[in-house]
Parts: sequence; C-alpha cells; structure tokens
Amino acid sequence: MAAPAGRDGLAYLDHAATSPLRPEALTAMLPYLTEHFGNPSGSHSVSRRALRAVDEAREVVGTLVGCDPGEVVFTSGGTEACNMAVLGVRAATGGEVVCSAFEHHAVLDAVAACGGRTVPVTPEGVLDLEALEGLLHRDVRLVSVMLANNELGTLQPLAEVADRVRRAAPEAVVHSDAVAAGAWVDLADDAGEVQLVSLGAHKFGGPKGVGALVVRRGTVLARLMHGGGQERDRRPGTHHVAGIVGMAAALQAAVSARPEESARVEGLRDRLAQGLRVSVEGARETAGGDRRLPGTCHLLFEGVDQEELLLLLDQEGVCASGGSACASGALEASHVLLSLGLSPARARQAIRFSLGWDSTGADVERALAVVPKAVARLRSR
Ligand SMILES: Cc1ncc(COP(=O)(O)O)c(C=O)c1O
Repeated sequence: MAAPAGRDGLAYLDHAATSPLRPEALTAMLPYLTEHFGNPSGSHSVSRRALRAVDEAREVVGTLVGCDPGEVVFTSGGTEACNMAVLGVRAATGGEVVCSAFEHHAVLDAVAACGGRTVPVTPEGVLDLEALEGLLHRDVRLVSVMLANNELGTLQPLAEVADRVRRAAPEAVVHSDAVAAGAWVDLADDAGEVQLVSLGAHKFGGPKGVGALVVRRGTVLARLMHGGGQERDRRPGTHHVAGIVGMAAALQAAVSARPEESARVEGLRDRLAQGLRVSVEGARETAGGDRRLPGTCHLLFEGVDQEELLLLLDQEGVCASGGSACASGALEASHVLLSLGLSPARARQAIRFSLGWDSTGADVERALAVVPKAVARLRSR
C-alpha cells in the first residue's frame, strides 16, 4: 500500500506510537461523520441507523477477537479500557491487584493508585513467571499482564500466567493490555483464556480516541463513570459512532492482511535491525528474539544520547521514538528499560523503530542511510 499523501521522503518508523488511518477505516467512517450523524441511544430512524452501525461494529470486533459481541465494551481508547479493568475490578472486589513491572502507564499507574504490586521481568523482556507465582495468593483479585510490550515488542506468556493464576489465586481475573499487540496476534487464541482484554484502535490503523474492553461473561467489574445506560450500563456516554465503525473496519483489514503483512513487515524490520547492527559499531538490540511483534526493534547505540539522536533523525526525515509516546518529552529513563536491568544512562541510549501496515523498503533504506551518519556525528563531538 502506498504511503499516504504528504509523506514523501519521510520514513515514518513510529507505528507503535500510532499508525496512519487505513483507507478502509476512513471509507467506513465518512458516512457517520456526515449524513448518518444520529445518536444511537435515541428512538427514531436517524438514531436507529447509527445504532445499527454500532451493533454491526460490535459484531465484527467480537468475532475477530474471539468473544461474544455482548462482551465488547467500547471506550475512548486503550487508556480508558485499561483503567476500567484495573480500577473496576478493584472497586468491585476490594482485593489486591498485581501487574508486570513494564506495563504501559495506563495499567501501571492504575495499579499503583490501588496500592498494587509489580512483578519483575527478565533482561530479555519477558514476565518472570516464578516471581509472579511468589506474589500470588488467595486475596489477589486482578493480575494484569500485557500481551506484547509496547516499547520492546516482546510477547508475554499469557497462557502460563492464566494457568498459574487459576491455581494460586482462584478468585482473581486476568487482564491483558493488548493495545500494542492488536494488529499482529490472534487474540482469540493468545488472549482466549483471560477475562479482560484492552484494545486501542489507533495502533492498528483505526482512528484515535476509540478502543474497547472485552469483559467476558461473569467477570465482576464495577462501573467507574456515572451517566447514561450505554454499553449495557458498563460505560456511559454517547457513542463515538464513526470511531467505532472505523475501529471495526481497521481491525477487519488488519486481521485479513495479517499473514502477509506480518511476514512482509518482519522482513523489513529484520533488514533494518541487522543493517544497523552491522553499520553502527556498538549497536545492539535491547530485546531481540522471535517472540516479538513483527514490526518492532529496539536498539541501543552506545555513547549516544537518545534525545539528540531522535532530533537529528527527525531533521533527516526519520521518525522514531525513545519509547512510549505518552512518556516522551519526559527526561526520565524509560521504566520499561529500567525493568530489564539497564542503568538509567544506558536506557537513555536506546531507540525504538516500529514498522506497520504502510511501511516500505524505502523507509528502511532511508533509515539505514541516515542513522549511521547521525550516530557518527554525535560520537564525534
Ligand atoms: C500498551 C499500551 N497500552 C495502552 C496505551 C494507551 O492507549 P490509548 O492511546 O488508546 O489511550 C498504549 C498507547 O501507547 C499502549 O501502547
């Protein structure tokens, strides 16, 4: 697929922050931003048209993620879904909550707000299952482990987590933040055993400001906001109809293209990572391996300041990131890299490149041409 207009000469390698809108999503959304503007909660024909669109989108999302459509709760994005899961279980049960140490802040800070505890991860970027087991006991009510880490791309052993939780904390539910993984993994398979799953549309080519929390039947979850009775009383507020329609269309497109897109993007990512390891002395991947999202590589450039490198790359038309988009601008080292055991100084030398549905070989070639020169320039100062 060609890069969207306006991206000529720019290598956008920050899909983990956000992906451009897929054309399928835009086409599906347009009627709901114009003629079909109804509020789905009303009773006349204009409302019914909008409600039908939301119901159809719910059906599509439910089918693609492997749940009953009635278990899909549309939200304003991944952050709201994660908060709803953590705070909702805590409010309903009063029990202990636990999460991995390298969750996105949407989970990490919600767990901290409940006085919860964190489970360490290995230097390879995978949850330490033995450490998790050590923290589990009968009063734990929620365990939150992301499906893929958004900075490193490493996939997490969710089935093993669910199994250990069932045995050691039988009353606990498992939540998985699948926001980073959404486009790439079969959620029906990989998150099939967990009770709560968070999704965010803009990571797989849907619009920003819309997401979903899958709440499997029987999961006890308090409602956090007060208002109307939308989403079966789970999440009040007028639906973002166009966003919901765009999310379903984007997910459909991502899932249909997944086998070819994954292989293609993985090939590009490997060419980039390998090329940089060869052409830049002292460059190494912070977390490599096969159990990773196909589009993400995270490289450490010894002796180079991350912020300075990103600035130079941006000037040369290469968009990458120092980690989570939400944390960028902050001077602290990434909590994800610190959780791997990297020192703060080392953590400030690493950069994430993330490719997605519209990435091309030209993007990779540009990065391969620009990054080594930028690193050399910074090292020669
Ligand atoms: C793993 C993960 N969880 C949650 C979020 C937050 O999602 P949203 O931007 O839809 O609020 C993000 C966004 O960067 C993410 O990568």
